[in-house]
Order: sequence, then structure tokens, then C-alpha cells
Amino acid sequence: MDCCFPLSRGRHAAKGDDGVHRVKVFSCNELRKATQNFSEANKIGEGGFGSVYRGMLKDGTFVAAKVLSATSRQGIGEFLTELTAISDIKHENLVTLIGCCAEGNHRILVYNYLENNSLQQTLLGSRYSSIQFNWEARVKIAIGVARGLAFLHEEIRPHIIHRDIKASNILLDKDLTPKISDFGLARLLPPNATHVSTRVAGTLGYLAPEYAIRGQVTKKSDIYGYGVLLLEIVCGRCNTNTRLPREDQFLLEKVSSLAADNTENL
Ligand SMILES: Nc1ncnc2c1ncn2[C@@H]1O[C@H](COP(=O)(O)OP(=O)(O)O)[C@@H](O)[C@H]1O
Ligand SMILES: [Mg+2]
Repeated sequence: MDCCFPLSRGRHAAKGDDGVHRVKVFSCNELRKATQNFSEANKIGEGGFGSVYRGMLKDGTFVAAKVLSATSRQGIGEFLTELTAISDIKHENLVTLIGCCAEGNHRILVYNYLENNSLQQTLLGSRYSSIQFNWEARVKIAIGVARGLAFLHEEIRPHIIHRDIKASNILLDKDLTPKISDFGLARLLPPNATHVSTRVAGTLGYLAPEYAIRGQVTKKSDIYGYGVLLLEIVCGRCNTNTRLPREDQFLLEKVSSLAADNTENL
């Protein structure tokens, strides 16, 4: 079954003849069967929105079902934001939404399953990962994320500011092609606007200082988050690690002090 979500963004790519965007609607039962009743064994992730489960549809397609938790306070708003932002976008470096489920009080987003989970888990996480992130792979990931961001900022209309670029929101497919995901905080940028004023949201360590101070989010706020991500990719560590000695805990501080030392030695 398809479902129509009237969107007011004036996009044309995936619109039907009637001018509305189509998203496949799943029944709860279908997703329950696909994920073996949302079993713990199939759980592949968790975030502020709720839990994410791997599943297999009747036709054999693997999916990731992102289930809104009953305790998530901004949940319904984030569910609709994510659905609206990503429902008609196709790009190699953005996650693909397959459909959704809105039955009773269940709210579930269904995505293409990505075999190598997120950069947070594989490159930075404590969980064992056998992936070799050689320089070629790191460059491919860095360029792929930049392409995805450039598409959101420059190509799609209205432009989209993601607002939560970070390692756990960069998913990797089987070939380590990166896909920007988690559009729960995304904002559409009105034509000719340079910023949107919003309640400050995002993740500590990735927040652009001027956004945190003024509450005005711009494309540059995403670029700041991307810069932090780039440092993490190059260094192979999280931007914050409180288990390290004090002087090593914050990657940004460490890098700026190294840069200052180098300038002094010039
Ligand atoms: N399509 C997917 N394929 C594989 N893993 C996924 C997928 N979507 C999400 N995940 C996993 O679930 C985690 C949380 O998903 P995310 O969309 O970021 O939710 P939240 O809004 O709660 O942060 C991700 O960091 C990742 O580990
Ligand atoms: Mg997330």
C-alpha cells in the first residue's frame, strides 16, 4: 500500500501525478514478522528516537526498522520531520527511506539496511569491528559525506540543514559507502534565507559555537559538525573521551594546541 504525504516543498523528483509524495506504508504485523517481534537479537542501534531493528521483508529485502519509543518526548515531531525531510530524496550518500508505519500509537520508519552500521560503531566504537579503515577507505568516507552534505545544502530545494552531523549518523554500506542518516532534527531553509532560528539542538562536541550562542542555524553549522567528524576519521577516535588523561580528552583542544605549537616553531 502507498500512502500520500502532502509536502509543501515544491520538489518534483519523486512526486506522483497528483503532486504528492508516496511512501510505502507497512502494517505493524508485517514489521513484527520481519524483525522476529522486534527481538533483542535483531536490535542494531539505539538513539534518542528509540531502537532500530534489522529485519527481512517477505520479498527478502533487508531493512532497518526505526521504532519511536513511547518515552521519547519530541518523538512525534521528529518522526514527521524525518519523514518529510527524507521521503523523496535519492542520493548515493543519503540513507534511503523505504516506508513507514503509523498504526495505533506505533510510529516506525523503515530504511534500507546498511551492512556496516555506523562510523561510531565501526571506526570509533568499543565494539569489535574487523573493518580495516585504511586511508583509501577514510578518504572515500570523508568525500562521500561531503557530497551528501553538498547535495542537501546546494542541490535539493528548499535546501536542508541536517543539524546533527556526527559519527553515529553516518551509516556505511557493505562497500563502506557512507550514507548520511537520521533527519529527525533537519530544517528546511526557506528560499533566500541564510539561517533558521531554532531551539538549539544537536550533539555536544559537534555544535558550532555561533549556533550554540545565537540559536541561528546555518549551513555552516553542519560544516562545523563535518569538520569535527573529519578529525575523528583522521585520528580514529571520538572527539571526547573522558577515560584519557585530562590533556588528551578533547580532540579539538588537542588539535588546536598541536597547531599552536607548530605555528610557534615556524
Ligand atoms: N539503515 C540502517 N542500517 C543499519 N543500522 C542502522 C540503520 N539506521 C540506524 N541504524 C543504527 O541505529 C542507530 C540509531 O539510528 P538513528 O537513525 O541515528 O536514530 P536516533 O534518531 O535515535 O539517533 C545508528 O547509529 C545505527 O547504529
Ligand atoms: Mg542518530
